Amino acid sequence: MTRTETAPAVETPTYGHFIAGEWCESTSGATFESHNPADTRDVVGRFQQGTKADVAMAIKAAETAFPMWHRTPAPKRGEILYAFGALLAQHKERLAEAMTREMGKVIAEARGDVQEGVDIAYLMAGEGRRMAGDTVPSELPDKWAMSIRQPLGVAGIITPWNFPMAIPCWKTMPALVTGNTVVFKPSSDTPHCATLLVELMAEAGFPPGVLNLVTGSGGEVGDAIVDSPDIAVISFTGSSATGKRIAERTGRRLKRVSLELGGKNGVVVLADADLDLATDGILWSAFGTTGQRCTAASRVIVVRPVVEPLLARLETRTRTLRLGSGLDPAVDVGPLINAGAADKVASYVDIGRREGDLVIGGARATGDGLALGHFFEPTIFAGVAPMDRIGQEEIFGPVLSVIPVEDYGSAMLALNQTRYGLSSSVFTRDVNQAFRAMRDFETGIVYVNAGTTGAEVHLPFGGWKETGNGHREAGHVALDTYTEWKSIYVDFSGRLQRAQIDNQPG
Ligand code: UN1
Repeated sequence: MTRTETAPAVETPTYGHFIAGEWCESTSGATFESHNPADTRDVVGRFQQGTKADVAMAIKAAETAFPMWHRTPAPKRGEILYAFGALLAQHKERLAEAMTREMGKVIAEARGDVQEGVDIAYLMAGEGRRMAGDTVPSELPDKWAMSIRQPLGVAGIITPWNFPMAIPCWKTMPALVTGNTVVFKPSSDTPHCATLLVELMAEAGFPPGVLNLVTGSGGEVGDAIVDSPDIAVISFTGSSATGKRIAERTGRRLKRVSLELGGKNGVVVLADADLDLATDGILWSAFGTTGQRCTAASRVIVVRPVVEPLLARLETRTRTLRLGSGLDPAVDVGPLINAGAADKVASYVDIGRREGDLVIGGARATGDGLALGHFFEPTIFAGVAPMDRIGQEEIFGPVLSVIPVEDYGSAMLALNQTRYGLSSSVFTRDVNQAFRAMRDFETGIVYVNAGTTGAEVHLPFGGWKETGNGHREAGHVALDTYTEWKSIYVDFSGRLQRAQIDNQPG
């Protein structure tokens, strides 16, 4: 079958897996639906309910394609990445609209998500001509020493729904440019976004088997990828709980795994901050993407003299935020991804009512057509203590906790007092304080006078502590996940030369 409609246009389209260059049905014969979270009556499509057997076929296709792809010169591979980036750019509006429909983020942010895919495709296309190793002097005469990167084999890529195009690109682009082949399993909440990406990858010219898509559940498809002895490296973005399970299982096989997990990102506001600017940055990073970013700000740590004026600004501005379908350009905040997410946010709001003071929000939003989707009011709690549950646990929704502190020292301690370490920010006009924060904050990303979101693809992206396992995405360091180093010594002296011995006196 093709990926396109198998039934008349009025019916919901059914999409396939993409294995060995062909769109195909699952061996299960079953499909699942993807719904629009702003209006759950709208069914985006039906997708294959993948099985272990489907994953095995995809791995076989990827293994078969690997020798050819590995031997394709890296600059040539890079050209295909470049063509893919250009197609993404050309189809940006169509892709953004499809994204908003399937996962709810507002259209401007959906365009940004596609753009992040373009950016990483172009960055990694360039790596096809760099992919630098070291060439260094040897300690012995007439001997050459250098290191090169080589691909690992088949990469298993498991992605979330919150950046349904950017994150698959963050992972597939470095995997592919370095010569790996890929089995890609997207979130069951965003299979259509994944399908659209893979269609463009095929059009860009990735040969059959180089990139394979298998849709379905984490328990079936995800586990089959994680447990396969034929997959050399896993890259996963999702919850810390799932990440730990993947690390345990892959650890038994000494399989490489790159994990991008939870966050509890904090913004520190010092007494000399520009409070209007801080308000802009906090609201954008707390309620953008409806708080469903790994980088979203969920804690604001404020020194006491500015708590009241900052809270007043946050409350006033939050009141003006418009909820609705992200396809309406006037809307600021879209829906949560699904009913489970709305239930989770509601349960944390209950906890928050016991721990802090509700300033605004705190309920499911049901006005004017909103009852058809998973909408939740942007919510702010004041008077939260650093170790309160709403100040510690990842909620992944539009819930912000304001934590009052005495001074920079206690702000820094509160900021670092979390098991996560992805992103952080400080608002101050004092350059010395800014540099202290840059030095002291225990996160993989630090912003000065900006919110906690907005990472660019040419710097490393990832977190400390339980946010990950030390790997980074984006930047040239992303190549580390997908390559082995090979150190090569060429002795052209024509005689035995013993390192560490023949170059020593005596
Ligand atoms: C994520 O939420 O997992 O910095 C990715 C940002 C975006 C990427 C977020 N560029 O918020």
